[in-house]
Amino acid sequence: QRPNTNRPSLGIPPELTARESGPFDPPELISRVAGRGPVHRLTLADGEPMWLITGHDEARAALADPRLSSDRFRSERVVAKLPERFRDRAADPRRRAGNFVTLDPPAHTRYRKLLTGQFTVRRMRQLAPRVEGVVTERIDAMVAAGPTADLVTAFALPVPSLVICELLGVDDADRHEFQERSAKLVRLDTPLDEVARVADGLRAFMVDLVRRKRAEPTDDVLSGLIGADPSLTDDELVGIANLLLVAGHETTANMLALGTFALLERPDQLARLRADPALVDGAVEELLRHLSIIHLGVLRLTLEEVGVAGEVIPPDSDVLISVIAPNRDPRRFDRPDELDVTRPRGPHLAFGHGVHQCLGQQLARVELAVGFTELLRRLPDLRLAVPAEQVPLRCDMIVYGVHSLPVAWG
Ligand code: HEM
Repeated sequence: QRPNTNRPSLGIPPELTARESGPFDPPELISRVAGRGPVHRLTLADGEPMWLITGHDEARAALADPRLSSDRFRSERVVAKLPERFRDRAADPRRRAGNFVTLDPPAHTRYRKLLTGQFTVRRMRQLAPRVEGVVTERIDAMVAAGPTADLVTAFALPVPSLVICELLGVDDADRHEFQERSAKLVRLDTPLDEVARVADGLRAFMVDLVRRKRAEPTDDVLSGLIGADPSLTDDELVGIANLLLVAGHETTANMLALGTFALLERPDQLARLRADPALVDGAVEELLRHLSIIHLGVLRLTLEEVGVAGEVIPPDSDVLISVIAPNRDPRRFDRPDELDVTRPRGPHLAFGHGVHQCLGQQLARVELAVGFTELLRRLPDLRLAVPAEQVPLRCDMIVYGVHSLPVAWG
């Protein structure tokens, strides 16, 4: 029996997340309906209808379709359904400022252009040795305290958090506080009212950071944004910084931990990667495809009637565009359910597609490649310290993965 990791307050329908077939395979319902066709009308437990797109080509087309909005506040129906306390907080324009993943063009386009100007090849090259530094530091600490650890708290959570500190230009002295606050936000055992308090604390931290960057710019994304567009307000900059943290922390952390778990459970694949570390870039793509940690997919709202594979989706409908089913679509991938670190690179949707395609994907790839390479190189004989069935899974969280991963080595 797996530990109960339910956090019902998130309101995610359990039928969309149950993993009866194993920790690395899609939720049951997704696999079942994906076999029947590329698009489906579901009725959720609360009686509400929802459309689910599972076909690869259909998902790709939907992600590029401007009739499918990322801004759920455009629907009065959606807003009316939000609990009142949450509605005021979520609709507050000061809190929404800069959170461009929830905006449609043209408002989205302005922020995206500004950010693309900061996520340059030069900055990514500059960050690579810092990622190596952060990874080495964390493994040194694990080795000093070893030969066992929880890979999530010792490695997977701190690595991306420290990399985001590099990106935002957080001073060394403030990194511990930043990391503690961001780790609390993604932990399951943080009570919900404390989550709100921690989020407010993090916001205050970001406001302070933005003001400091205005007064004394350094070579980081926030200072770069201020230089590129002095009309950006403090609220917008704080929103952007928060989005980078939210989008880049939990995702990368879960890929590091779940990816390690998957490799440990597939000794043949692990042996191939150990034997030829040059396979790591392909292994990262394959793990992204195979694990598809944004396991529910991405939610969109139809602004008008949309036809998908012969089905007519009415205006003002919720459409869930799956990532995991398209990434296992047999029309697109041979032996889709197999993890094969030597698989030729294919067009997976783990980073989305269209105007919202992941802004941080190059950085994530560097973090994952360096992270897996160094874990395998520095920790010989890395293995699970508990039976695989006891690893607690993040089934009902937006980002799938593991809550902890007890490992041993040496
Ligand atoms: C967007 C996945 C890492 C920043 C997205 C989207 C996906 C995704 C699926 C599209 C969302 C949508 O269409 O609604 C991932 C995965 C990651 C990862 C699987 C790790 C393995 C990162 C990192 C950063 C980042 C490291 C930055 C530090 C963003 C931002 C967006 C985004 C800012 C919104 C882009 C936009 O709306 O234009 N990510 N991401 N992500 N991601 Fe990532």
